[in-house]
Amino acid sequence: MWISFAGIITNYKDVKQFLVQKGHKFRSDTDTEIIAKLIKHIHGLHPNYSFRELVEQVIQQLEGAFALCFKSMHFPGEVVATRRGSPLLVGIKTKTKLATDHIPILYSKDVFEFGGRALSTRDREHSKLKDHRPHGHEIPAHGLARSQSTSEFLPQGDNKEVEYFFASDASAIIEHTDRVIYLLDDDVASVEKEGVLKIHRLKRTLEDTHAREITTLKMEIQQIMKGNFSSFMQKEIFEQPESVVTTMRGRINFDSETVVLGGIKDYIGEIRRCRRLLLIACGTSYNSAIATRQLLEELTELPVMVDLASDFLDRNTPIFRDDVCFFISQSGETADTLMALRYCKQRGALIVGITNTVGSSICRESHCGVHINAGPEIGVASTKAYTSQIISLVMFALMVSEDRISAQPRRSEIIQGLRNLPDQIKEVLELDSKIQEISKKVFEKKSLLVLGRGYNYATCLEGALKIKEITYMHSEGILAGELKHGPLALVDKGMPIIMICTRDNVFVKCMNALQQVTAREGRPILICHKNDQEPQKYGSSVLEVPKTVDCLQGILTVIPLQLVSYHVAVLKGCNVDCPRNLAKSVTVE
Ligand code: AGP
Repeated sequence: MWISFAGIITNYKDVKQFLVQKGHKFRSDTDTEIIAKLIKHIHGLHPNYSFRELVEQVIQQLEGAFALCFKSMHFPGEVVATRRGSPLLVGIKTKTKLATDHIPILYSKDVFEFGGRALSTRDREHSKLKDHRPHGHEIPAHGLARSQSTSEFLPQGDNKEVEYFFASDASAIIEHTDRVIYLLDDDVASVEKEGVLKIHRLKRTLEDTHAREITTLKMEIQQIMKGNFSSFMQKEIFEQPESVVTTMRGRINFDSETVVLGGIKDYIGEIRRCRRLLLIACGTSYNSAIATRQLLEELTELPVMVDLASDFLDRNTPIFRDDVCFFISQSGETADTLMALRYCKQRGALIVGITNTVGSSICRESHCGVHINAGPEIGVASTKAYTSQIISLVMFALMVSEDRISAQPRRSEIIQGLRNLPDQIKEVLELDSKIQEISKKVFEKKSLLVLGRGYNYATCLEGALKIKEITYMHSEGILAGELKHGPLALVDKGMPIIMICTRDNVFVKCMNALQQVTAREGRPILICHKNDQEPQKYGSSVLEVPKTVDCLQGILTVIPLQLVSYHVAVLKGCNVDCPRNLAKSVTVE
């Protein structure tokens, strides 16, 4: 048995105990092994079951979030794949066009049972059914005969060659094909000997669409190649002058100063009338919510709550029908964010998804949303998605405030700020070699504090997260206003500190914090505006960034920190794209 498995089986101990009682021996303590042993056990009990039926039996016993792909020497030439809570797609490659762009769902009529319980009529009548119908001619529950459905799903013309690819992310297969089917939870996709793909579900529910669409990806192969860069993270940092443009493309008219987000325009009235906005996310995506909260409060004049998805769920937070809940997620598959989404949806709130992955679970389960269009992000550390998330939320604030005459000067300044952003990002990226030199001074230290306030506070959190994530160095993003409430005790001449001090409404307060640090012999590395002499005299080194509107400044101040984390990781010999213990899509709680 060959199994490809992503996710977690939460009841694996119970299943293992059951299998041990049945005499199975285990070589490891992994949840993957219990899946292999479980399918072997069921095959022993029911040697007449097809491969797909065995997998259907297995997944009924599993709890957790998983994507699974099976191959077996008992079923040569066949593959069965299924998912629950983890993403899974099927890529289809053919020489000629397919006769259909939909594949119908086939339903198994009865529910299987397993373990100490009696098996259902499905089990008893299995061989009878096989005897009375030619293989592959059961009538699916929605009435479409199998022969009808499968013969339609073949390439046109004489060349019937088909290749299938199973992957959790489209970027893994784009070099082979751009046609994919996104499977839904509990879909069981099987490729049988004759090379025909079938998708089954055990039970039919009211929400079922009865077919899965074949989507054509708009991703380019070059987008997922490293090119001249040493890692995907480095490539993605340097892509930001372009990725911010693709986020804004077709949405902002810089001349008429209007913003239209097609995915939410029909809901704008409802959003304006809502009780409050909730922004819920994890990690970097959460930091993008922190980065934009102040602007959302200012331009929408609504209360804005920002929550970490895990904490939001832990609290059983009250949610109302007139709440608008944003779920921000690069992957669109993060388990905590997705569960928080379902929690809010059940309570009748309007669900807005902000994702980078078309067809992801968060996309599909939202009422409306914005694709950030940053292009595929392969490095585990999120970089270009962060800046595109900020821009998407800023565009949302601009769109909601379009009818507020008093907000026009502010909106205009922000829209012009967005127009200049790509060139300013290029300017910041020119600091790369200077940042590499600075990184050499800090890479052997134990800790790195990142201080700032106002719009730059999110940059501190995000910079510290990047440093922790890929360099394994302790780092903390600290709100400068909190210094004297504890963190100041950490400051001495040996403590590495990065401080962000740009000319905005908290500049004076930042200068105050800077003086408190230098009075304790701290010699911070400063991120400040170009040619701004006043803060520069306090810095051990200075990174000068161009000035933009306060609410966009975080995009320009975070890039030096992305580069610091990248260079420190390289100097320490860490795996930049795949940091230890972490995954790109966190599909488990
Ligand atoms: C960012 O560098 C991290 N890899 C991580 O914090 C990530 O942002 C978080 O897991 C949320 O992921 P999502 O945006 O795909 O939901």
